[in-house]
Amino acid sequence: MLGKLIDGKAIAEQINAETVAEIACLKEQYGLTPGLAVVLVGENPGSATYVSMKDKMCSRLGLHSERISFPASTSEGELLAILNDLNFKREIHGILVQSPLPPQISAEDIFASVDPSKDVDGFHPLNIGKLALGDPTGFAPCTPAGVHELLIRSGVKTDGAHVVVLGRSRIVGRPVSLILSQKAPDANATVTVCHSRSRNLAEICRSADILIAAIGVPHFVTADMVRDGAVVIDVGINRVEDKAVDKGYRLVGDVAFDAVAPKASLITPVPGGVGPMTIAMLMHNTVRAAQMRHGVA
Ligand SMILES: NC(=O)c1ccc[n+]([C@@H]2O[C@H](COP(=O)([O-])OP(=O)(O)OC[C@H]3O[C@@H](n4cnc5c(N)ncnc54)[C@H](OP(=O)(O)O)[C@@H]3O)[C@@H](O)[C@H]2O)c1
Repeated sequence: MLGKLIDGKAIAEQINAETVAEIACLKEQYGLTPGLAVVLVGENPGSATYVSMKDKMCSRLGLHSERISFPASTSEGELLAILNDLNFKREIHGILVQSPLPPQISAEDIFASVDPSKDVDGFHPLNIGKLALGDPTGFAPCTPAGVHELLIRSGVKTDGAHVVVLGRSRIVGRPVSLILSQKAPDANATVTVCHSRSRNLAEICRSADILIAAIGVPHFVTADMVRDGAVVIDVGINRVEDKAVDKGYRLVGDVAFDAVAPKASLITPVPGGVGPMTIAMLMHNTVRAAQMRHGVA
């Protein structure tokens, strides 16, 4: 019997509908259109695809969007100058700098240079600090916030549950562990964070009520690592070669879906699980940034 699918597309659409309603309210009551600037450096095809998906979603939901593209040779100083302009631009409420950045640019410097009140990606040290302290006035990174919403809207109880997070990146693993261990009704989990130096991974994973995989290794989580009835959230998006399709590749997660699904009580697919939630939370955060700037939130 296949575990029940968590339909990330459908849940993301619920959130998008809520965002559309909030945008309509801002326009009607305050004449305000939330604006998002997306900065792309270089020609990484994956990044270009993500940026156009974000552009399309902005126009679908009714946000103002600006895309600023630079060649891969751009210096850190040039990028910082643009971010400074965007920090002061009134029509822009949210700023996102698409990762990965070329090697001559420090991602840390860039994340720290976005105005924290426009940091809708939640990567500024101030927002990470607020997340760690449980201060709700900051922005949580979009993918971890999306995982949290998926759990809440799928009726998964995290209170007292053992959550095992595979991966400790600042984009996914670390912040998702901070969110779920918070002292809050929709959190309150006992969280174990694993990484490439963790011992006895399979054993730790088997003790999870909720297993969140975010390591970037195709099909890493196998059936023997999952206990019967666990909830499995697959954040991984990995390209694997597939000559049978025109593109020459297909996307798979960090979880061996076909083998794990029969053991899980709930499981996210890839694609169609966490992915759509990331963009939905970005739109949500941008609207919230506009509301906060204008004292509406
Ligand atoms: N769905 C979405 O919207 C979305 C958004 C962001 C990322 N992703 C996907 O999520 C995955 C992870 O992304 P990321 O940015 O967090 O990756 P990352 O920065 O490369 O971090 C990977 C983490 O996994 C750990 N790790 C790697 N191999 C491992 C292994 N064999 N055993 C145990 N731990 C291992 C690493 O450990 P160390 O710290 O020890 O190196 C690190 O903490 C990728 O597939 C990415 O494409 C999806």
